[in-house]
Amino acid sequence: MKFKFDYSKKIGRLKQTLITSARLISLLWSIDKWLITANAIAVSISALVPFAFAFVFKLLIDQAVFIARGNPPNFNMVTTLFLVAFAIYLIQSLIFSAQDYFGRLLYTKVPIALFQKVLSKISSLDMEYFENSEFKNTLEKVRDSYEYRPLNMMDNLLFTFQSIVQIITSIIVLASLSPFLILVVFILAVPELISKIKQSELSWGIWDAQAEIRKRFWYVSTLLQERDSIKEMRLFELPGRFLTELKNIQENIYKENKTLATKYLGINALFNLLSGVTFIAVLFFIIWQALYKKITVGDISYYTTVITNLQNGIGGFFRNIVKLFSESLYVSSIFEVLDAQPKIIQPEKPVHLKLNKAPRIEFKNINFKYPGSKHQVFKDFSLTINPGEKIALVGENGAGKTTLVKLLARFYDLDSGEILIEGINLKDLDLTSWYKYLGILFQDFVRYEYKVKENIHFGKIWEQEVADEIVAAAKQSGADPMIQKLEKGYEQMLGRTFEGGVELSAGQWQRIALARGFLKDAQVLILDEPTSSIDAKAEAEIFGKVEKLSKDKSVIIISHRFSTVRNADKIFVIDNGQIIESGSHQELMKINAQYANLFNLQAKGYQ
Ligand SMILES: Nc1ncnc2c1ncn2[C@@H]1O[C@H](COP(=O)(O)OP(=O)(O)OP(=O)(O)O)[C@@H](O)[C@H]1O
Ligand SMILES: [Mg+2]
Repeated sequence: MKFKFDYSKKIGRLKQTLITSARLISLLWSIDKWLITANAIAVSISALVPFAFAFVFKLLIDQAVFIARGNPPNFNMVTTLFLVAFAIYLIQSLIFSAQDYFGRLLYTKVPIALFQKVLSKISSLDMEYFENSEFKNTLEKVRDSYEYRPLNMMDNLLFTFQSIVQIITSIIVLASLSPFLILVVFILAVPELISKIKQSELSWGIWDAQAEIRKRFWYVSTLLQERDSIKEMRLFELPGRFLTELKNIQENIYKENKTLATKYLGINALFNLLSGVTFIAVLFFIIWQALYKKITVGDISYYTTVITNLQNGIGGFFRNIVKLFSESLYVSSIFEVLDAQPKIIQPEKPVHLKLNKAPRIEFKNINFKYPGSKHQVFKDFSLTINPGEKIALVGENGAGKTTLVKLLARFYDLDSGEILIEGINLKDLDLTSWYKYLGILFQDFVRYEYKVKENIHFGKIWEQEVADEIVAAAKQSGADPMIQKLEKGYEQMLGRTFEGGVELSAGQWQRIALARGFLKDAQVLILDEPTSSIDAKAEAEIFGKVEKLSKDKSVIIISHRFSTVRNADKIFVIDNGQIIESGSHQELMKINAQYANLFNLQAKGYQ
């Protein structure tokens, strides 16, 4: 794949590096301003120490030359210089330890805040974000970089700062010798800086353009590592095919990076040569000055060290600024995610639902398409669920049953029409208060690899764990007998990820999930094919209990099993975005249309 790089973005990127740096600094500052200050002080002192050393050394050399010329030694002066040198040495070792210590603290403290910020943001994003391919690319970049990129960038910022201290100090010292020297340094440094920045932009360009490919790469490599996928893939002999795909992706990335590196090989060598020549010329200039007695012998040593420091400073500055430039591009993706605004806008003064019964739910003339999709899932669709009603939704795969549930939870907003909860528009409701009324068990429920009791307690996490309630919920879902048989009962760890965990069958997991739904004890219980893996007898028992226990509660059951559906007060048949039939089982059988057809078809299978 060819990568494209938009040169018009260049200035924008430089600006963006500055903005990202500023934002990172302010983020770090908010995490621990003292630690940041301590680190900055430590790096600047360690940048200044070599200058102090060099200066004391210069004075010592000048003393030696003075004595060599037959002058009497100044013992006081020599002793003082040695003491000062010793003190500087002590400071240096202290600063090294301090730098190490503060660095370590920062390195372990920053991720705590970062994880919380990034993960809580990601987990609060609306569904729509996760389905937008472009944003998914950003998320992908963030996912494999938010743990360490900001830390890298923080290091780069600190070391850039250190290099700047080093460079400025060197320049001040050298300027006292000859301002002309500074000019030489700048003439050399600026083109190199520009070239380095360009290189880093190009490598980002490659990375950016490869986001789509990288997404595939991670997807395929996960497929190859997941227990659930490996089963099927082995039988279809797929691993070889996927391995080849991974290899091709990696080889392409290698090729593009190699092209880039080769392109800059010559330019880099040239810059290195040029800076070497300049520094040697400057050294000659200094020695020449000494020969003409414009400076002392000690000055030769001093300025040589300063020049070496300047050289190191500039080298370090380049290395760090280039890294800063590329890291900032990754880190800016993190800020992009942190800046993501909710698509589902909560009202300014949300209504808190305060009912102690099930609310009346009305879907009024709703129209809905998934964002970015052309398929009209609902067309002028209307449906009312009265308090305490047990209804069933039936319809072919893709008819829109699950979507209806997602709309009721306001995961998406409607294109038009309204959903009224006890007469209040869903858009005006406080969602957290509404969710307390909703007990939804999705088709693709989550298998939490936690203990059994935690798995169930997750249904009502805002309340303390009460063992009796958990057992009652498990009895209701028919999970209790099977839990009793587990070695550690309700304390049993589930799943195979953690030590001592046991794997459950699909139906057993479903019973646990159902128990979680029942524990919530919500006024509106929605079960989206929650019993597809549970045998028919158990399913009948479970639903018998649901109906008995939730007399005043509304229940929405979505199922392809007509033996379950037939017990509902009212059955809605959804087709082509609309309700085509509704009524009780008897009524629908009498009409003898679609429902009756499907029912008879299934019944025949059991005869
Ligand atoms: N996240 C999504 N983005 C875009 N389209 C979607 C999304 N989820 C579902 N759809 C589409 O919306 C339609 C309704 O899907 P939905 O999941 O509601 O069907 P369903 O009635 O629950 O089917 P099933 O019986 O298979 O569970 C389908 O055409 C599907 O392709
Ligand atoms: Mg569905």
